[in-house]
Amino acid sequence: MAITACIRELDRYENQEVILSGWLYGKRGGGKIVFLQVRDGTGICQCVVEAGCPEAFANAALLEQESSLRVAGIVRRDTRAVGSFEIAVTALDKVQGSDGYPITRKAHGIEFLMENRHLWLRSRRPTAILRVRHTFIQACRNFFDRNGFTLIDTPILVPGAGEDAQTLFSVEYFDRQAFLAQTGQLYLESACMALGKVYCFGPTFRAEKSKTRRHLTEFWMIEPEVAFAEMEDVMVLAEDMLVDAIHAVLDRNAGDLALLGRDLEVLRRIQKPFPRITYSDAVEILHAPATHQKMEEGIARDRERLQAQILELQELEKQIGAAKKEAQRDTLAVKAAELREAIQDLEVELANRPEHIRLAQAFEWGSDLGGSDETIISRQFEQPVFVSEYPRQAKAFYMKRSTRDPRTVRNLDLLAPEGYGEIIGGSQREDRLDVLVESMQGKGLKPEDYGWYLDLRRYGSVPHGGFGLGVERTIAWLCGLKHVREAIPFPRTLGRLHP
Ligand code: 4AD
Ligand code: MG
Repeated sequence: MAITACIRELDRYENQEVILSGWLYGKRGGGKIVFLQVRDGTGICQCVVEAGCPEAFANAALLEQESSLRVAGIVRRDTRAVGSFEIAVTALDKVQGSDGYPITRKAHGIEFLMENRHLWLRSRRPTAILRVRHTFIQACRNFFDRNGFTLIDTPILVPGAGEDAQTLFSVEYFDRQAFLAQTGQLYLESACMALGKVYCFGPTFRAEKSKTRRHLTEFWMIEPEVAFAEMEDVMVLAEDMLVDAIHAVLDRNAGDLALLGRDLEVLRRIQKPFPRITYSDAVEILHAPATHQKMEEGIARDRERLQAQILELQELEKQIGAAKKEAQRDTLAVKAAELREAIQDLEVELANRPEHIRLAQAFEWGSDLGGSDETIISRQFEQPVFVSEYPRQAKAFYMKRSTRDPRTVRNLDLLAPEGYGEIIGGSQREDRLDVLVESMQGKGLKPEDYGWYLDLRRYGSVPHGGFGLGVERTIAWLCGLKHVREAIPFPRTLGRLHP
């Protein structure tokens, strides 16, 4: 009796007969021997079908890319094969064909791929990213579990704003208005007064009208909240969790990251404690002549890189023109398309740089850091960097007012390196009833709408704090993605609600 196996575990079955179920990823050969690239969700395995096995050989001929199939065969060690094992097929059944599968080896634009996201998910790049995402989330959950946190599932239908009211999604709730949760934080604050250390992990919603590479309208946030924690405690918690999860990803997904072309050394270098600067330090960095000089140097370097890429593209185009075989032409065309995209991105980037420099020079103490400001600051560090103590007017009502400088709050943003910008936002919370009420009023919120929340400051209020980590932004950084939309299975953005 053959054993049912999955590709990842083939090493257990050397020289034994197994049954694999999966889909055809690719196929080559013909005359007397056919090589099938079969994927089953755990890996890709070469299955060799010889003409000496006529029924299987005939069935192999019927398979199209993404046909579903079942094969039986002997597991053979082959160091040349991906995963070091291949299967010498003894029997092969097609489960269903896949005529006209739209995602081919040819080059596809991102819009086409996103429109076909339900099928694109099967390709190597998305599966690698989704596996990294899985490890990361699981590692964070394990971290909380090991450290005495209780999971609290906070509501998704809520009566009011938890963050900026401008980005609320409104829904009909019988005869009244409700909103989709922007954060679980306010409810976690209640729960941490009950259980001490709590966290939630759920989808959050923001009606972001901006089209950027950092914004989704539906994203997943990991939020811990801890009673008796102050700002520094929250920073330590954030770096402990993040470093732990990065180690898990490096441990389990080095292959996936390599497939994505990620420089692993950059991630291996990450270590705690992360550098800590204040918002005022950040403003100084934005104003410093040395920063601008560095940026100008960056522009010069990138101009050279752009020239090199343009030459490379011209060379590729020549090769495509000269290619004899269609398969070779397709492979080169995919490379050329990728390169064209990279060139376009770099051109846009270079066109924006002078404006970013101008914005940095003109930055005024008091405003929130913009995307380009964060990029500039995070490029100064090889490690993620905490920026704390922002001006009150730039931040949310619930943040604790600093006693040292009452113009600022005890908040922390964590900016990822390589220009990725904010991946974590958190703070110590305002635990004084009167100050909190005043802050709400200052932001145009009605304290009577938050009666239950204010109760937490009426009955045994304590210092407490927490943060929210945006899963997609973090995965985008870890995987080296240009855009957060690839870090979530089915992205929702200003322009996309499909599939
Ligand atoms: O900084 P934010 O808005 O913080 C909060 O929501 C707090 N209530 C969290 C807390 O203290 N419990 O959001 C936290 C993180 C950001 O740092 C970012 O990584 C991510 O959520 N984020 C987004 N990710 C993708 N698309 C968007 N539109 C995002 N908005 C925030
Ligand atoms: Mg934030």
